[in-house]
Order: sequence, then structure tokens, then C-alpha cells
Amino acid sequence: MSDWGDILSNVYSITSIILAAGEGKRMHSKVPKVLHKVCGKPMVEHVINCAREISGEEPIVVIGHGAEQVRKEISGVRYVMQENQLGTGHAVMQAEKYIIDGDILILYGDTPLLRSEVLMEMYGMHRDEGCSATILTSDMEDPTGYGRIVRTGDKLVEAIVEDKDADSDTKRIKEINSGIYFFNGKELKGALRNLKNDNTQGEYYLTDVIGIMRRKGLKIGAFKTNNTEDIMGINNRYQLSTANKIMQSRITKKLMLDGVTIIDPDSTYIEPSVIVEKDVTINPGCILEGDTVIQEDSVIGPYTRIKDGKIGRGVSIQNSVVLESSIGEGTSVGPYSYIRPGNKIGKHARIGDFVEMKNSNFGDNSKASHLTYVGDGDVGNNVNLGCGVVFVNYDGKNKYRTYIGDNSFVGCNVNLIAPVRVNENTYVAAGTTVTKDVPKDSLAIGRAKQDNKEGWVTERKNK
Ligand code: UD1
Ligand code: CA
Repeated sequence: MSDWGDILSNVYSITSIILAAGEGKRMHSKVPKVLHKVCGKPMVEHVINCAREISGEEPIVVIGHGAEQVRKEISGVRYVMQENQLGTGHAVMQAEKYIIDGDILILYGDTPLLRSEVLMEMYGMHRDEGCSATILTSDMEDPTGYGRIVRTGDKLVEAIVEDKDADSDTKRIKEINSGIYFFNGKELKGALRNLKNDNTQGEYYLTDVIGIMRRKGLKIGAFKTNNTEDIMGINNRYQLSTANKIMQSRITKKLMLDGVTIIDPDSTYIEPSVIVEKDVTINPGCILEGDTVIQEDSVIGPYTRIKDGKIGRGVSIQNSVVLESSIGEGTSVGPYSYIRPGNKIGKHARIGDFVEMKNSNFGDNSKASHLTYVGDGDVGNNVNLGCGVVFVNYDGKNKYRTYIGDNSFVGCNVNLIAPVRVNENTYVAAGTTVTKDVPKDSLAIGRAKQDNKEGWVTERKNK
């Protein structure tokens, strides 16, 4: 939460109501619209976070369509049910018991790009001018589909007219309703009780409360923003992708201004929860998700996906996938490594091409340079795993662990049949299938003796 949020919520109490009960027909989806994700988070969650930053109170979320799914995904809010979706005004009425005399902020769940800075400025105006309602508006090049702000000769806001109810003159108005409002709770409650549904869609429009309040002689404000991105409503998947792009460019821009080199922001996807320290370089084609942290001087990519990864300083990861694992300082990974969940990889280690690792500890200065599977392993420090080493961790029913002690050398093409321990300072000869523990300081060799049949090729030719 920003300092401003703290100050505001200490001084004023703002009750925020977020409308999220609609189906979102234009998404053509089983998933309710507000749960579709923008940069890894359901769009309504972005709106909720924005509300939290300004109000400090638990937001009220009106749900209806897909209510159970929404409840499951989002917590820390107060839910209100709207059984039948009879319009945005009807949705707000469902939250009537929460509408007290103080300030009410109303937001729609499908505007994920909204930033709290905009709300704070708008709230300042709402209070300074003593308005009973303040609408966030904007001039749109193409206002089709939005409600229009109708003003009287003296420029005062008179009403909002929905696109579907607008005559051709009204349709020409470029100033639109964003669906974001501050209200005085008492006046809002009164106006809601006077709503009618005598319009094209037969719905109770929240927008009609503006006309009702105006006719009562109350003061209506309009806070106009030039930044149409902030108020963009998402109704279909094309707009969803546009919103993703815009949020991505905000995230990558902020990181770059904070000292991260991003070679090609357009091909980089970073979720808002990811922390990237300064002097990290991110090459093209990277996807950084979840609770990933990347420390200073690391070089990520090209073409790398990291989800919930803790990446130490000066690590290099190329063309690889890293999931729920930590990688120590100075280690290099890839190209083409697959680091599955549950690994703790030490410092200055090397995980090379076509190495797969899962649920393993891998010590400092240890190497698996190529074509190796490390599954359920505990590998010490200064260990070398040769090309083609396989940790045979699964017998068809259960998984077992393999231990390799410090300073051991495991030759190429060795199978380690778990559970098994290869103790400190050992050598395992190439091609060995290790089925029993190897004592420390010894050599394990387990393979058929080679037999050379001299002259065999010539003899066969002569037959
Ligand atoms: C609405 C506004 C319009 C504004 C536009 C901005 C009204 C009548 N119109 O139109 O003036 O320009 O947003 O994007 O308010 N919802 C419910 N219950 C309902 C109906 C809707 O919770 O019964 C929720 C939806 O889930 C959605 C939000 O309200 O999050 C807006 O509904 P939507 O149908 O998208 O309204 P628009 O037609 O876009
Ligand atoms: Ca909408």
C-alpha cells in the first residue's frame, strides 16, 4: 500500500464496491469474465488491489455469474450475491447494507489497468468540490459502446446516456463514462431507490442515478483523464490481449528505469509479482512468473521460462525451464535444461545441455554438463556427473533417493539404482550400473568384461 493510501484511509473512510456479477458473453468462455487473467492475475484482482490501495477497507465484490469460481480464487474481500443480473444499478443495490453516509467508490471488475494514482487525484477533486457524485470520464476517439456524458449549456454534467439508448446527436458525444465513480453514500442510496428499468435493455442502470441526483439539484463532478488506457474495459479476448500488452509494457518499463536491461521488451513477459534486481540482463523470449526473484548481475535467456525461481547473483540461464527451485550464485544453467520443482542448486555449479533435475540438492562447484537425469538426488560439493548419468529413482511403484558424496566422480552412462549411496571421494567407472552402496575413497566398476575376438570381421567376410 502506498503512503497516500495510508493517509487517506486514516483520514476518510472509503467503502469500495466492485461489480463483477456479469457473465461476459463476448468472452465466449466457461470462465467468468472477471477471472480471465491479465499478467497472471484475474482481472478483478487488479481492480481489487487498486481499491485496497485507496480505501484500506476490505472491498465489497458483487458476484453472480460463476460466483463459486470467483470465491475460490479471490479472498480478503466481502462478497455480495446478485442472483439475477438485472443491471449495474441493481448490482449496487445488492450491497445496500454497506452503503453508509460516507464516501463510496464504485468500480467495474473489467477495468484491470486502472491505477490508484488516478483514483487518488479524482478523490481529491470529489472532496474539494463537495460533489455528491464524481464520474471518471475521458474523450474517446471511438466512443462506441460506452455511456456518453451529457452536459448542459453551462458545461455541468446532466446525465449519462447508454450507447444503446442514445439518439444520433448523443452518439456523437466523445466524452464517455468509465464506470468509475465516487458517491456520497446517503445520496446514492436515495437515488438507487428511484431507479427504473424503462430502457432498451430493460436493466437497472447505475448510470441513471446521475440524472436522478442532478434533478434533485445535487452537484455532479466529472474528472476527465487523458489516459484512456487506465479505464479500458475488457469485453472480449482481443481487448484482453491488448490489456496484457499494456500492463507488460508498464512492468518492463519500470524494471528498466530501475536498472534492469531488457533487450527486447516486446518479447518479454514478466508478471507483476516478480522481483528483478539491478544489472540483470534479460534476453529476448523470456517468461518470468510467480514469486521469482533474480538477483544482481544475472543473465537470463534467451528463451527461458522461470516460475517461482530464486536465482542468485551472477547466474546465467539460457534456453531453459526452471520451476520452483533455487539456484546459487555464479551457477550456469542450459542451454536446454529442465529444472523441475524442488531443487536446491548450489553456487558456481554447472547444469549443462539436456539435463533434467527434480526434487534434488546439488552442491557447490558440482557439474552435470550434459544429458543427465538427476531425480530425487542429494549430490554433494565438487561432484562431476558424466554424460548420460541416470538417477534411476522409480521402480514402477515408489520413488527413492540417491546420495553422491563430496568430490566424487561419476563416469559417463552410469545408472544409479536408488536407493543407493555413493560415498565421498569415489570414482564410478563409465557404464557401471550401481546397485549397492559405494564406500568412500573407492572405485566402483560394474560392467561386463570386454572380449576382443581377433580376425572375426575377416573370417565373416570369407564365409
Ligand atoms: C458500463 C456502463 C457504461 C460505461 C461502461 C464502461 C452501465 C449501465 N453502463 O457499460 O456507461 O461506459 O460500463 O466500461 O453501467 N455487472 C454486474 N451485474 C449486472 C450487470 C453488470 O455485476 O447485472 C458488472 C459486470 O460484471 C461488469 C460491470 O458490471 O464488471 C459492467 O458491466 P458491463 O455489462 O460490462 O457494462 P457495459 O455495457 O460495458
Ligand atoms: Ca464493460
